[in-house]
Amino acid sequence: MSFPVDVVVMAAGKGTRMKSSKPKVLHRLGGRALAQHVIDTAARVSARSVVVITGHGAEQVEAGLVAPVVDSGAALELQFVRQEPQLGTGHAVQQAVPVLADDGVTLVLSGDVPLTRPEALQALLDLCGGHHLALLTLDMPDPTGYGRIVRAADGSVAAIVEHKDASEAQRAITEIYSGIMAVPTRLLRGWLARLDNRNAQGEYYLTDVVKFAVSDGLKVAAHRIADALQVAGVNSPVQLAELERAYQRRVADRLMEQGVRLADPARLDVRGTLVCGQDVEIDVNCVFEGRVEIGAGARIGANCVIANAVIGEGVVIHPFTHIDGEKAGVSVGAGALVGPFARLRPGAKLGREVHIGNFVEVKNSTLADGAKANHLAYLGDATVGERVNYGAGSITANYDGANKHRTVIEADVHVGSNCVLVAPVTIGAGGTVGGGSTITKDTPAGALSVARGRQTVIANWQRPAKKKG
Ligand code: UD1
Ligand code: CA
Repeated sequence: MSFPVDVVVMAAGKGTRMKSSKPKVLHRLGGRALAQHVIDTAARVSARSVVVITGHGAEQVEAGLVAPVVDSGAALELQFVRQEPQLGTGHAVQQAVPVLADDGVTLVLSGDVPLTRPEALQALLDLCGGHHLALLTLDMPDPTGYGRIVRAADGSVAAIVEHKDASEAQRAITEIYSGIMAVPTRLLRGWLARLDNRNAQGEYYLTDVVKFAVSDGLKVAAHRIADALQVAGVNSPVQLAELERAYQRRVADRLMEQGVRLADPARLDVRGTLVCGQDVEIDVNCVFEGRVEIGAGARIGANCVIANAVIGEGVVIHPFTHIDGEKAGVSVGAGALVGPFARLRPGAKLGREVHIGNFVEVKNSTLADGAKANHLAYLGDATVGERVNYGAGSITANYDGANKHRTVIEADVHVGSNCVLVAPVTIGAGGTVGGGSTITKDTPAGALSVARGRQTVIANWQRPAKKKG
């Protein structure tokens, strides 16, 4: 393409029907703000810059959106302009034109229309070609509420007439304007200066530029698509939920095309980025957040929630496991078994073949290859050596009420059941800690350490009997 593209995203509207204190375009779809989807799509048509028009909740919207990183690694230029008050879509774009350069094409998008494919936008830009006004249009069985595409006898586009301004005959037209257009910026600037608000809604309509193009003797092109999802906007929680499912279905289809086996594509939620190796299997009702990588041959059981984690090859995550790496991340080594009902928190780093069983919590701890904690245990701020066996009910007492301390459990240690390891403390390699011990001092390598009350035995003990009468 020989012309630069500047994207204008309209996002000043109120979104009354969301009935939310949060600005509409910040509501999340697949874990990303609606308007962020639009901005990210702009990056995929090689836009030069993105200008977001804000109004309602402007400060929140401006703080809630980020410039996308493009293929070259650079961030696309993202600017905000405010529209106060909101006098219509034409008025909105009028606020943006002062920051747009005349050598480019302006691509107008809406911040509440998240599922437009870059291919459709590219086709629209190609039709524009740097010279023409090009509209994205769609046939709708029920076009109520939309602007209608009025065509002349020769089939060329003559005007867009808003529903409220349309005659009965015009309302019968099923081809509608999607809200998306590509227009040479130099022409747009001139046309916007000619807008007025003499219409049924008393608004400055962006759609009136079509009328001006026609009266200037310029051809108006239309790219008609069939997929309504691509131009569907979010106005209510119901529509948000519908588009969420549609988005998730797209994600699921993409994963399955790569060979991932999903037990049910309708019961998957990816709220971020999920990258899978070959032969990954994912059972129903799993939620993935942030960036999650799953190695080849790994299996994820039903009802797992996994965020910001790297899962190694051949790992089995049993059902109902919760993994959240947050910023520090979680990594699970190849061949490890985790769950059911396990909890891995930030900084949990599991080596190869590690076993973490039910009701075991691991936080900011490293477990070397082959270490096992199979039942009801807590490992926090611990360094656990190879092949350690950590017994049921044992905990690291890592917090003294003010500071956190580390526990070091060297290779081949066996920690019995129900032990308390009071940090800072080191259990020497190959050592054994007797069940029920509270260990407060370092133990030597190879030793058995027991720290608990000695058993007392009283023979022929008579239990108290109930008094009669
Ligand atoms: C607009 C089109 C209509 C098209 C429809 C597709 C006009 C006049 N009409 O209708 O032909 O069929 O989109 O959905 O353009 N916005 C602002 N500032 C404003 C007004 C709106 O930023 O002053 C933003 C909204 O937040 C929204 C977008 O512009 O993101 C579209 O506004 P909306 O009111 O949904 O469009 P309609 O007028 O219904
Ligand atoms: Ca409106």
